[in-house]
Amino acid sequence: MSSEKIRELISKMTLEEKASLCSGADFWHTKAVERLGVPAVMVSDGPHGLRKQAEEGDHLGINDSIKAVCFPAGCGTAASFNRELICEMGETLGNECQAEGVSVILGPAVNIKRSPLCGRNFEYYSEDPYVATEMAGALIKGVQSKNVGTSIKHFLANNQETRRMSSSSEVDERTLREIYLAAFEGAVINEKPWTVMCSYNKINGVYAAENETYLTKVLREEWGFEGYVMSDWGAVNARVRDLAAGLDLEMPSSLGINDRLIVEAVKHNIIEESIVDRACERILNIVYRYVENRDTKAVFNREKDHEKARKIAQETIVLLKNDQVLPLNEKDDIVFIGKYAKEPRYQGGGSSHINSFKVTSAWDAVSDKPNVTFAQGFIDYKDEIDENLIEEAVAAAKKAKTAVIFAGLPDAFESEGFDRSHMRLPNCQNELINRIAKVQPNTVVVLHNGSPVEMPWVNEVKGIIEAYLSGQAVGGACVDILFGKVNPSAKLPETFPLKLEDNPSYLFYPGEKDKVEYREGVFVGYRYYDKKKMDVLYPFGYGLSYTTFAYSNLTVSKEKLTDKEKVRVFVDVTNTGTVIGKEVVQLYVSDLESTVIRPEKELKEFAKVELKPGETKTVVFELGMRAFAYWNTGIHDWHVETGDFRIMIGKSSRDIVCSTDIRVESTIKLPFVYTTDTTIGDLMEDPKAKKYIDDLMKGSVLFSAEPEESNSSASEALSQDMLMAMMKYLPIRGVISFGDGSVTMEDLQKIVDELNKKEQ
Ligand code: BGC
Repeated sequence: MSSEKIRELISKMTLEEKASLCSGADFWHTKAVERLGVPAVMVSDGPHGLRKQAEEGDHLGINDSIKAVCFPAGCGTAASFNRELICEMGETLGNECQAEGVSVILGPAVNIKRSPLCGRNFEYYSEDPYVATEMAGALIKGVQSKNVGTSIKHFLANNQETRRMSSSSEVDERTLREIYLAAFEGAVINEKPWTVMCSYNKINGVYAAENETYLTKVLREEWGFEGYVMSDWGAVNARVRDLAAGLDLEMPSSLGINDRLIVEAVKHNIIEESIVDRACERILNIVYRYVENRDTKAVFNREKDHEKARKIAQETIVLLKNDQVLPLNEKDDIVFIGKYAKEPRYQGGGSSHINSFKVTSAWDAVSDKPNVTFAQGFIDYKDEIDENLIEEAVAAAKKAKTAVIFAGLPDAFESEGFDRSHMRLPNCQNELINRIAKVQPNTVVVLHNGSPVEMPWVNEVKGIIEAYLSGQAVGGACVDILFGKVNPSAKLPETFPLKLEDNPSYLFYPGEKDKVEYREGVFVGYRYYDKKKMDVLYPFGYGLSYTTFAYSNLTVSKEKLTDKEKVRVFVDVTNTGTVIGKEVVQLYVSDLESTVIRPEKELKEFAKVELKPGETKTVVFELGMRAFAYWNTGIHDWHVETGDFRIMIGKSSRDIVCSTDIRVESTIKLPFVYTTDTTIGDLMEDPKAKKYIDDLMKGSVLFSAEPEESNSSASEALSQDMLMAMMKYLPIRGVISFGDGSVTMEDLQKIVDELNKKEQ
């Protein structure tokens, strides 16, 4: 329906009808206006499968939903670094939504993984905003290509579960822009999600639901968002203020209570009726976009989608360690140890919990391999060592050529609604791994978790696979990788620190009462570990393959450019091994001469390429000004500082294989206001100020100190260089204190005024 028609329709509605459209009819539906033929539509969780609840609704995955397909969660999909694959996953989800009559799927969830403890990290993509926004964009593109909407969430700075409904995330402007907003920005601008879901928390004291700065100024005015903003379930705090700030749809229903508040507010001139009209227009635009593009032929083919889930899972599983133990040979005697071999942990708890129509475990997937046996090893409903289970597993491991332990975090350790209290695996699993490794040199650990864990046994085992929470087909995908049918190609979208205390948010997480200060600023994840040159367990971007890749011929289309131009970067990647494989080519940028405190390097591009043995492909990246910019809080905009930048190609943030330097010139003159507090050093950087410096020098005793060659004791103590270095930090007014009396405060003020005049 055209915008005019929608506006016409709204003009026929009573104020009560319009207000009613601004909240859900129940847990999952928008409201209808039957008198005017306006339909109600359904929304459903998301993000990695369809949680369509036909009966009693809830937002914590408590009641049953229809049987569906659980795809890999965000932690895994990000590890694929494969935009096309995740777009395909989106297309599949979009088709499922069409078949099931769901207008909007509630995802992707792009919140930054600030701390390994966040209970919901498994749903989120990365510690890096570029990875998060690119993978989210790919999912949105896929879903929306099927005329079904997405709801990118949870906007904004919702990075913990502790007190998520009342806590205020205290984040400075630059950090918000470079890290937390950036995770949304690219996806919103490039892929235009139909809806955005605001988060529960406050941002710098103001609830996300009523935060006009982000819901309207940033989202709509800067990023051009045109869909509707919905609340997270129960995130509305002051309905009328929220509506005015840009929160269009309240979810779920407030049983008419908040609708009545809206009506009253209009009647008492607290808000204009046009604000209600505006929300209705935004909501109905999306409702009709779905209703008028229904695919009545869409079929939810669960078996087919299960196979798709397996294909995606194959690219979400990261090979972390391989001391010539993998791939396994199916002729060998192999024992699968651990409960998760038969009952994998493949998804997290809470609103994203899918009622999987079937689950393929690793054990199911080796039913055709008679040499594989099983021992349970541990229980996971409580963290208690079961000696019998361990001894049985040890005995089985002794007899086998290789032991593969399927370990991970139990549901109770990791879920929406609460945070983890530590970064360890259950003790009973660590004990099992240690005991098996003692008797079996060929031990491989497969991990099922949505967020980093400490690995005290890292040096005792020969192989480690991070399977993340990779959906209902994870077992098949793990077996494909274990036996070399598939070459692993995923990379860590987050750093695995050695211990929790190393994490940059450690001292401030999860805050005090209802306040959490993001004091680490932009130094999240590898931005911190790399700058600090800290040892980590596994770095950001890391992951092994069964083949090897070599990089060569890194070139750029120009070595000098302005911040208005783009530069193309070319690099050749060759498969130097013996099996076909995929490599994630990572491009990092480092600002070599910054006056701003910046990370040592930041990921600015990535590409995944498939190469046959011996094959070479040239990967081409294009970088614009954002690849070099930081957020300048003086001009409240992105800014590139003139200077040299290093373009680096890496296999991880810690394994840079080639680099080249370019120069970028800024075309923006930053405003600078001189005062008598301006330092001599700052003055010296401005060529126009030179003549004043000469005047000032004449009046300063310090400047007329004896030259270096002199033998006086003063010159021994203070060389000319030292003198100059000190002068750099002397405020202009210091000339009065250290001068010969020839320069007065009035003279200085005149100089300052002159300089400021010239600046205009
Ligand atoms: C979650 C959202 C979810 C909603 C509906 C909330 O508790 O934070 O991610 O989409 O419930 O289930």
